[in-house]
Amino acid sequence: MSRIIQLQDGTELPVIGQGTWWVGDNPNQRTQEIEALRRGIELGMKVLDTAEMYGDGLAEMVVGEAIADCRESVFLVSKVLPHHAAGLELQQSLEQSLERLQTDYLDLYLLHWRGSIPLQQTVDGLEQLRQSGVIRRWGVSNMDTCDMQDLLQCKGGEHCQVNQVLYHLASRGVEFDLKPWLNEQHIPMMAYSPLAQAGRLHDELLASDILRGIADELDADPFQVMLAWSIRDGHTLAIPKSSNVSHVQRNIQAASLALSDTQLQQLDQVFVPPTHKMPLDII
Ligand SMILES: NC(=O)c1ccc[n+]([C@@H]2O[C@H](COP(=O)([O-])OP(=O)(O)OC[C@H]3O[C@@H](n4cnc5c(N)ncnc54)[C@H](OP(=O)(O)O)[C@@H]3O)[C@@H](O)[C@H]2O)c1
Repeated sequence: MSRIIQLQDGTELPVIGQGTWWVGDNPNQRTQEIEALRRGIELGMKVLDTAEMYGDGLAEMVVGEAIADCRESVFLVSKVLPHHAAGLELQQSLEQSLERLQTDYLDLYLLHWRGSIPLQQTVDGLEQLRQSGVIRRWGVSNMDTCDMQDLLQCKGGEHCQVNQVLYHLASRGVEFDLKPWLNEQHIPMMAYSPLAQAGRLHDELLASDILRGIADELDADPFQVMLAWSIRDGHTLAIPKSSNVSHVQRNIQAASLALSDTQLQQLDQVFVPPTHKMPLDII
């Protein structure tokens, strides 16, 4: 995969990574999950996104097993729950995540969403961890424009590397103000659930003749078009989850698909961009 995005600190990352929500929940699928993650890494999807919340640590344990012999070739992202996001609890959460992940550092540590702990306390804690080297960078998730503005008012807040938010064809609200604001600040966006979780909403998306038509024109499938669309601006990294090797292979190919202006306009007609401020969509 040759397409990359650049973090605030200059680090370059491939535009498609791998998610891990629900991974680890079913012990019978463990082998398949590990195989899919490892195949993704081999193919260049080196950004692995997980969280202490996923299966209460079960997802981190699967990731730890998958990367045990290739830690250095992975860009490892985990998230701290908001009520753990300061002081000793933050340190303990990180230590437990590292243990489950069988590593001694994270490449990126995210605040999962904004809770009641003042942002300055979280930034202080994350900066302390960053300076000690146990996390290389930090960022946030599920933060709307006003939250990001508050964050940048904090001392050290300018070190935030990414904002991870829900973004797919049927959830475009961030395009109105959050995305342009992040672009101005040179903070990349990580698009979560870029395939709309392959659920009911996703089925509605797939029913779109436009989406299917574009997929046919590109000799691709609608999932690949959704992924290619989510990373089209060069400032967004998408993290589809898949525990199926053939899906993983198709997901990586989406990085090479280029949607034409005409195709983007056709998609805009069906999946209309926002014309006013919308509350941040969250799962
Ligand atoms: N920060 C947050 O609050 C937050 C919230 C939600 C998610 N996330 C992160 O974002 C990641 C991705 O989001 P998500 O897991 O919610 O949903 P998603 O990636 O949009 O969709 C995952 C679903 O799509 C299927 N799939 C993947 N590739 C496919 C393909 N090429 N063809 C057909 N089906 C395909 C997967 O099934 P198979 O496994 O069978 O392929 C799975 O059922 C999560 O895993 C997590 O790491 C973060």
